[in-house]
Amino acid sequence: MKIFIDSANLDEIKKANEWGIIDGVTTNPSLVAKENKDFKEIVQEIISIVDGPISVEVISTDAGGMVKEAVEMFEWSQNIVVKIPMIPEGLKAVKILKTRNIKTNVTLIFSVNQALLAAKAGATYVSPFIGRLDDIGHDGMQIVRDMVDIFNRYNFKTEIIVASVRHPLHVIDAAKAGAHVATVPFNVIEKMFDHPLTDVGLKKFLNDWKKVPK
Ligand code: G3P
Repeated sequence: MKIFIDSANLDEIKKANEWGIIDGVTTNPSLVAKENKDFKEIVQEIISIVDGPISVEVISTDAGGMVKEAVEMFEWSQNIVVKIPMIPEGLKAVKILKTRNIKTNVTLIFSVNQALLAAKAGATYVSPFIGRLDDIGHDGMQIVRDMVDIFNRYNFKTEIIVASVRHPLHVIDAAKAGAHVATVPFNVIEKMFDHPLTDVGLKKFLNDWKKVPK
């Protein structure tokens, strides 16, 4: 399973990239807004740090506007994946962008049917929001399992990005479900490193090393 970082923060992206564990980046308008910087500048810096797919979201809600934004963003780098909201106009844009070989990530997916429609329209990726489903008492990961089954059965090429990841168990469950990608916030990536036995073990190794005659 590929791991993307779900962040628009350049320090976080740089750090995770240096660790060698990320295959791409996803952003959204809320993440960009947190940075309080020029949008294009942020995206261009991300492009210079990570050599992999970088999802950037459109703001238009009509297909024409989405395509226009997408074409402009795609000129910044061919690694740009255009994030399109899961609405009828969005899928219209996905269909057009596919004919222009511009990759798309259909976002705000909360049901298997939405993912099926996005895949039919030719989305490169679909992003089911697992944490937000869990928040309202649904089993978010179940829709991922169902999507994996259906996409495999009908040989869809669309990749599933598990998004709205809240904790390390979501990442494990995404991998067990057979998702292609999990997009993970920086604080969750940090938690994935942690194990108390690693800390205790390292401390002991370093203390024992002091006893080795030198
Ligand atoms: O990038 C989209 C998604 O991961 C958002 O997550 O935590 O705002 O539900 P969250």
